Amino acid sequence: MNYTEGMLKEGALKDKTIIITGGGTGLGKSMTKYFLQLGANVVITSRKLEVLQGTANELMKETGGQVLAVQCDVRIYAEVESMLAQTIAKFGKVDVLINNAAGNFISPTERLSARAFDTVVDIVLKGSYNCTLALGKHWIKEKQTDKVVLSIVTTYAWTGSAFVVPSACAKAGVLAMTRSLAVEWAKYGIRMNAIAPGPFPTKGAWDRLVPGAFRERFDLQKQVPLRRVGEHQELCNLAAYLISDYSAYINGDVVTIDGGEWLQGAGEFNMFTEVTGDEWDAIEKMVRGAKSE
Ligand code: HXC
Ligand code: NAP
Repeated sequence: MNYTEGMLKEGALKDKTIIITGGGTGLGKSMTKYFLQLGANVVITSRKLEVLQGTANELMKETGGQVLAVQCDVRIYAEVESMLAQTIAKFGKVDVLINNAAGNFISPTERLSARAFDTVVDIVLKGSYNCTLALGKHWIKEKQTDKVVLSIVTTYAWTGSAFVVPSACAKAGVLAMTRSLAVEWAKYGIRMNAIAPGPFPTKGAWDRLVPGAFRERFDLQKQVPLRRVGEHQELCNLAAYLISDYSAYINGDVVTIDGGEWLQGAGEFNMFTEVTGDEWDAIEKMVRGAKSE
């Protein structure tokens, strides 16, 4: 048994219908596959229908599960409502929303046009609140309980990060929404949680954040105390747990899965990780020898 294997019991998500925005690629696609293996029906949505249909066909064949591919730009509320209607027409109900769709690229902020800033914030923040609002209104109106919204944020939602400022602003907003609604909507039987991943290689993220030769120059593994990037299955295991009934008492939390990356950047003296045993002997001698004035 290890971290590249599925963790939950067979059938743990049986009869659940799960909407995953941005479910045709990257981490969304990996989650779709695992949730199908656990018995769920999955609705995947994004702007590119061809990509979604390709993923749906591939994963239905591989797992024998049911996938509905729906074109939906999460920035447009009417499209979100239509996607919800199509989901209900096909599966009769929805149990889980995963706010996974995102837009991002690396850039000095002063080089961004106002439209570039809007583009990222609209996909990440507006997209997440559009979907959350549409689903929440539906569940509350229909008096349906035991529902879950899980949002994929990232650790710089609370630390901030240079060169991805629109994304940092938007992810911070999604986290604030998660914590706020965890309290407000608990009485309706809706749980709100988030996952904050560190680096998990995907084409979408890597091509836009560490393009070309910068991938070698800025080796992301070096920023991680565990000295590796994440395996998709690790994130899928955590997501499956957080949307399953096993996590019924977890509400309003954000679970970090980053190998300790953000703390390595945060600790005042973390650079001493590089110090050798001989150097520690010398340091101890100097420190013990220091006399206060
Ligand atoms: C400066 C840029 C730019 C760049 C686009 N723009 N790329 N400005 N530097 N590299 C500007 C454009 O000039 C335009 O402004 C505005 O942004 C919108 O660009 P479009 O190409 O028209 O937008 P669109 O086709 O909607 O594409 C959205 C996108 C694109 C965000 C720009 O990258 C995309 O589709 N991304 C979706 C997938 C994605 O980003 N995945 C990565 C998520 S990773 P003007 O003013 O010229 O019109 C992630 C990881 C977080 O979130 C944490 C990692 C550890
Ligand atoms: P990805 O493959 O690029 O996924 C992003 C998805 O969002 C794409 O499928 C894209 O599809 C969709 N999308 C973009 N704009 C949309 C819109 N307006 N409406 C609907 N869908 C839209 O990247 P990923 O790495 O898997 O990222 C998945 C999530 O994990 C994101 O929330 C990201 O911020 C988060 N995350 C990733 C990492 C990492 O290391 N990979 C780390 C931390 C957090 P279309 O282009 O077809 O619309």
